[in-house]
Amino acid sequence: MKSNPILFSLFGSDHFAKRMHQQLGYEMGNITLHQFPDEETVINIKSLVNDKDVIMIADLTNPNGKILPLLFAAETARELGAKKIGLIAPYLVYMRQDKRFQPGDSITSHYFAKLITNYFDGLMTIDPHLHRWHDLNDIYYIPAIALHATKPIATWIKANVPDALLIGPDAESSQWVSSIAQRINAPFLILEKQRKGDNLVEITIPKIDLYQNHTPILVDDIISTAATMIKTVTHLKSLHMKPSICIGVHALFAGDAYENLQKSGVKQIITCNTIAHASNAIDVTNLMIEAMDDLFKT
Ligand code: R5P
Repeated sequence: MKSNPILFSLFGSDHFAKRMHQQLGYEMGNITLHQFPDEETVINIKSLVNDKDVIMIADLTNPNGKILPLLFAAETARELGAKKIGLIAPYLVYMRQDKRFQPGDSITSHYFAKLITNYFDGLMTIDPHLHRWHDLNDIYYIPAIALHATKPIATWIKANVPDALLIGPDAESSQWVSSIAQRINAPFLILEKQRKGDNLVEITIPKIDLYQNHTPILVDDIISTAATMIKTVTHLKSLHMKPSICIGVHALFAGDAYENLQKSGVKQIITCNTIAHASNAIDVTNLMIEAMDDLFKT
């Protein structure tokens, strides 16, 4: 009989790991990452991993200080005899640098994928930023599962907003906005966005007179500086629409982004719990639990 994988939580992912342990009965692994005064890291895996499949669930936000320890953790498990090692990153970092924007730029999404591919045998994530890459397997040469938060988001909207008008702030967002709208039978609009700088985004909004009685719900995969959301909210306000609700899958909220978005006149800010944040109201743990059997499948 195939034995259950052993689950290790890294960088504050214990809430996910505990739910997986409770619902799937997977053993919770014991791992410590100790940082020396010189900021080098030593990994210690106390649990027996020999001949077992290992799953590491990791919050990789603010990735640069986490990546080496993550790779060392995988390598330690490998040396201690782990059979297969899977990575669950509810938010997959380094997906947005997906082309050479300026001559000489790095394409870090590709380099990061190469690193992960070298150390892990399977990857699971939720709504990765697939824009110029169309599929995770364009860059990840291991079984890679991209789950979608559309169903739990649709459930939240249906339960909370009877007069929803879904708004996708740019062309990329149409993939999940149209799918959510279809699930709850609500109208949707996709706007045109032009980024003029890190914090400057220009929005073009089509005629929305037809929807004056609706509550605009902006849905995007990532809220980072919140410039995209703020611009859209402000424009909708100028069109005398009802106050907007902003829904993001991944609550990155760099710097003062959350406070700035709150001040922009939104009715509510809601996010999925892929990244722990005060705005989390949509739980995506079950998405990962339901897909767990597929983690190492090709
Ligand atoms: C971009 O293509 C993404 O889908 C988001 O629209 C973007 O990352 C949001 O970034 P910000 O919050 O900085 O406007």
